[in-house]
Amino acid sequence: MASNKKLLFLPGDGIGPEVMGEVRRVIDWMDKRRAVTFDVEERLVGGAAIDAEGAPVSDATVDRAMAADAVLLGAVGGPKWDEVPFELKPERGLLRLRKDMELFANLRPALCFDALVEASSLKAEVVSGLDIMIVRELTGGVYFGEPRGIETLPDGTRRGVNTQVYTTPEIQRVARVAFDLAKKRQNRVCSVEKSNVMESGLLWREEVTKLHAAEYPEVEFSHMLADNCAMQLVRAPKQFDVIVTDNLFGDMLSDAAAMATGSLGMLPSASLGAADASGRIPALYEPVHGSAPDIAGQGKANPLATLLSFAMMLRYSFDLAEDADLIEKGVEDVLAAGHRTGDIAGPGSTLVSTSQMGDALLAALESRAA
Ligand code: IPM
Ligand code: MG
Repeated sequence: MASNKKLLFLPGDGIGPEVMGEVRRVIDWMDKRRAVTFDVEERLVGGAAIDAEGAPVSDATVDRAMAADAVLLGAVGGPKWDEVPFELKPERGLLRLRKDMELFANLRPALCFDALVEASSLKAEVVSGLDIMIVRELTGGVYFGEPRGIETLPDGTRRGVNTQVYTTPEIQRVARVAFDLAKKRQNRVCSVEKSNVMESGLLWREEVTKLHAAEYPEVEFSHMLADNCAMQLVRAPKQFDVIVTDNLFGDMLSDAAAMATGSLGMLPSASLGAADASGRIPALYEPVHGSAPDIAGQGKANPLATLLSFAMMLRYSFDLAEDADLIEKGVEDVLAAGHRTGDIAGPGSTLVSTSQMGDALLAALESRAA
């Protein structure tokens, strides 16, 4: 009998609701055609939650997120909330969810689909066949370190402070995720930091090296400084298999890697916590792109990053590899057939709207499942 997965949907702001709408359609299709069904609850996050509930994420929503089998989030933020105090900004909602759910491992695969080789700003031979995985630490580092704040000095000038801080367990748990993933891929991990400048980077390097020697000697292992890594990602991205890095470097390097795949509109992500006693892993899935307020509400957004995030959910939260494959293959099909939203459009392709991209994917799923 079909099992019922409890999902929490947090569409958020900007293009979030539009791209999540296409996942709803795939879920409806799966309810009818596949051996899995979903109960979807929807709540507010980001600016939408500020407007309706007075905070970028409410306590009740955090509770529901913890209780769900998995969370899917669209995007947060927009110019409408520019004047909101820093502590109440839309982004704080997302950061609180990551922290409260202890989602320390953020998986950001950058995969260049054959049909999109020409959409990348990099040369075809540099990106064709690209398949890398950035594992970003997500609940530590400068994003959350104390002390932090802005203070006014006696002379009336101001001082802004953030703290980059990591501990052995924080480094080890995310590095383990990277090594375990590498074993199922090309068996290579590159650890990225600034150990030439930062003590926290030196600690990072030493702890990952120790862990590698103690638990993963069979995995090919290397180090790279973060600035060099940014350069290598646009020079020769295929040299990498799994990259493991801290919160801030991971944020930047994953945006850089995105361009190798054609568009930020193509990149999914999974944020995972530690398994509890029953083996359950808290998880939140979201596209790497933001809320794109400039095109929100116009049906122009690319829903593929969100649909691919849903596929990651099927794979990592529910062990439904076949269903995940089906969606990923379906995405390949629609791209091969030339369907393109504006962000990946090129000569000879058919410009489609958000929902037309969804139509094309549903048709591809239908023909593959037939
Ligand atoms: C990301 C985003 C977020 C981050 C923002 C929206 C807080 O850029 O997920 O990459 O910096 O982590
Ligand atoms: Mg980012």
